[in-house]
Amino acid sequence: LIIRRQDYLPPAWLVPEIALDFALGLDATHVTAKLNVRRNPDGNGASVLRLNGDQLAPVAVRIDGQAVNDWRLDGPDLLLDLPGEAHQVTIETQLNPAANSQLMGLYASHGMLCTQCEAEGFRRITFFPDRPDVLSTYRVRMSGDKAAFPILLSNGNCEATGEGPDGTHWAEWYDPWPKPCYLFALVAGDLVANHDSFTTRSGREVALNIWVRKGDEGRTQHAMDSLKHSFRWDEEAFGREYDLDLFNVVAVSDFNMGAMENKGLNVFNTRYVLADPDTATDGDYDAIEGVIGHEYFHNWSGNRVTCRDWFQLSLKEGFTVLRDQMFSADMGSPAVKRIEDVRVLRAAQFPEDSGPLAHPIRPDSYQEISNFYTATVYNKGAEVIRMMRTMAGPERFRAGTDLYFDRHDGEAATCEDFVKAIEDGAKLDLTQFRRWYSQAGTPQVSIVADHRDDTLVLNMTQVVPATLNHGGEGQPEKQPVPIPLKLALFDRETGTHRGEQLIVLDQAEQRFVFEGHSRPPIVSINRGFSAPVAIEFERPAKDLVFLAAKDDDAFARYEAMQSLVVRHLIAVVGGNLDERARNAERGAIAEAFGAVLFDPTLDDLMRGELLILPAEGYLAEQFLVADPAAIHAEREALKAWLGDAMKDDWQDLHDRVSAAPYSRDAAARGARKLKTQALAYLAAGAPAEAKTRAIVQYRKADNMTDRQGALMVLAGLDGAEREEALADFHARYAGNALVIDKWFSLQAGSLHPKVLEHVRQLAEHPDFTMNNPNRVRALYMAFAVNAKGFHAASGEGYKIIGDLIRRLDPINPQTAARFVPSLGRWRRIEPKRAAQMRAELERIAAEPSLSRDVLEQVTKSLG
Ligand code: ARG
Ligand code: ZN
Repeated sequence: LIIRRQDYLPPAWLVPEIALDFALGLDATHVTAKLNVRRNPDGNGASVLRLNGDQLAPVAVRIDGQAVNDWRLDGPDLLLDLPGEAHQVTIETQLNPAANSQLMGLYASHGMLCTQCEAEGFRRITFFPDRPDVLSTYRVRMSGDKAAFPILLSNGNCEATGEGPDGTHWAEWYDPWPKPCYLFALVAGDLVANHDSFTTRSGREVALNIWVRKGDEGRTQHAMDSLKHSFRWDEEAFGREYDLDLFNVVAVSDFNMGAMENKGLNVFNTRYVLADPDTATDGDYDAIEGVIGHEYFHNWSGNRVTCRDWFQLSLKEGFTVLRDQMFSADMGSPAVKRIEDVRVLRAAQFPEDSGPLAHPIRPDSYQEISNFYTATVYNKGAEVIRMMRTMAGPERFRAGTDLYFDRHDGEAATCEDFVKAIEDGAKLDLTQFRRWYSQAGTPQVSIVADHRDDTLVLNMTQVVPATLNHGGEGQPEKQPVPIPLKLALFDRETGTHRGEQLIVLDQAEQRFVFEGHSRPPIVSINRGFSAPVAIEFERPAKDLVFLAAKDDDAFARYEAMQSLVVRHLIAVVGGNLDERARNAERGAIAEAFGAVLFDPTLDDLMRGELLILPAEGYLAEQFLVADPAAIHAEREALKAWLGDAMKDDWQDLHDRVSAAPYSRDAAARGARKLKTQALAYLAAGAPAEAKTRAIVQYRKADNMTDRQGALMVLAGLDGAEREEALADFHARYAGNALVIDKWFSLQAGSLHPKVLEHVRQLAEHPDFTMNNPNRVRALYMAFAVNAKGFHAASGEGYKIIGDLIRRLDPINPQTAARFVPSLGRWRRIEPKRAAQMRAELERIAAEPSLSRDVLEQVTKSLG
């Protein structure tokens, strides 16, 4: 069944109020839902009320207090024929949360009960019009065993509590803000909290609680600090204030995604809450800050203004990702944050855009909405809004978002509403820009520079590639989009430029003329990654070396470094370089590395960014048909050459940064980042030296960043030290699920020649379970992105992922479906492997009762 955007109809009935009563139990929860329904004046006037359900049977149905038996089921949905204008509909359902392995709806996790309703989980709790344009106020009463569930939480404010019979107690919650059912949440369990408070700029005192299982409370301070920073930042950056007296966050260890923005009751995957120096890396700390911010910012971009339908998902997700990116940039290093965000986009979104699952940031159709929580909707969605901000400038953009929040507060809005508000508020003509919402595919920009007399001409073309979207609609023809490009022209003698300018490429072919340059300038373009496009621009290596060493835009510097390496690796993989040319290019790369290593103006966090080699997935993207083994081998060869040729530099660097004591400040984090990078280059070029140093680094480590870095290097090397370190790490952190996840990931992602065997063994390890998504991802996602193992010539890597999908689908279809895209890339892989990948997809497709989630991804991938 395909759902289409153009088929949207307003609901026939509204539900202004709902009262829910939960009699809680881990394996039996009884739900009574009282819905006050009212005919929608803007609806189609139908008398039938459709209440969505999913694996539910009604225990009882009453209309205006009278039991009725003439209800009908239409598939999973409950249909009621209602005359007149308004009624009270009461429905009772019975659930078994302990048996809910999908983790959608109400489920049990380590003795606690919690919910996940976005996108369509509420229909697994009670029959309801489960669509985001039906907004209700929620009154929630819950009762349960006081010993098992001492803490009872829901959205809004707690209005009353009391004791019940037989050791039970109850609580009643009321949320005054009308919301769609995907924002409903309930949590019941034995939890402890980190309590704090925040006073908003207008003087509202908000109680903040971060709820965790006993024993975890010592690892919540960073999340609490991030939360308070988020509250403050949204007031300052977007003028958004919190609107309740209470804000609860609950950490849950069984969770399909990162976190969920339920009104006043955010539910988080533990990995985005818990941190201390001994168990969390610097990357973990950053991710917590980002996700805490993201969910908090949803209170306005998502909750106060929600989505009309799920095709509008990017309205809240793209915008909220942009907001969390800006927040993290302001909390730390904007330059480093921008580079990291681009790296994520290129690693996750570019391949999506060029594969069988390509879709616009506002999709036109879907079968299962869970499959559309993608890098395209989230990260490209953020880039699209960022471009509006770049074109408008920060002040006018802010006027646009102020207008958007003001105009649509309390509404279920569309992406078009957002664009219109920015257009009106920021005074920007976005007529053509709207194509970014409707067209899939990464625009390809080609640039040819022509310098004559004292004039530079940049001849540019853009092509938005056809996306055939096999099995889906497909978009064979595309129109040009406005592409804002920040640009600076460096004089190659003085090394300076006359200021950054913004040009907008909005035609298929366009000339840009720059006068007054007696020498051909060095062009720095798409500075700050001002547009999410791929750029082809032939130029001499020395120009890239110049930019890598001297560009005053941090992203452009990183980009020059990446280009230098990318074009070199494309050439060697293509067999297009003889020995001399290869050595010359390696020399240029080493020169650029040297400039970065010894540049006193760089901080170490930024230095670390510049030393990262382009990811294998991004390299594969550069080929129409890629040979992953060749890409891997050549990338490793370059790494080994750099490791060996610059051995002394890496050792000096490792010595220098190893002296820094642990702290969370930028300098110390930069030092830790370089520490493991130096080790990794040494491991490739001088493995004996690397091993000695890694063992010392592991033993001396007083924090997880250093310890994990050393273990990662050791896990890729042979020998008894590897086994000893892995055993030590496992024993040291026994019982800490998040750290044991790292133990699985390090091995599954390692460069060790026996990685396939290791993954098979790890799947049998007593700590492995298919029922915990974090553990499944720790083992198998790490493996699926490990090109060496996943693309093993035998095809065994594909089989491992294929087997996983088939085994996981009946347990947790949403998580299972997330693994399909790795196999779905077969058309872009060399023929022998492509056939093996395709065969694996066919084996999955042949399963008798696949979930809608996996079925959609597999059929689209097969085409
Ligand atoms: N809205 C959440 C976030 O991005 C994601 C929840 C998606 N959950 C799901 N089961 N599809 O913050
Ligand atoms: Zn979100």
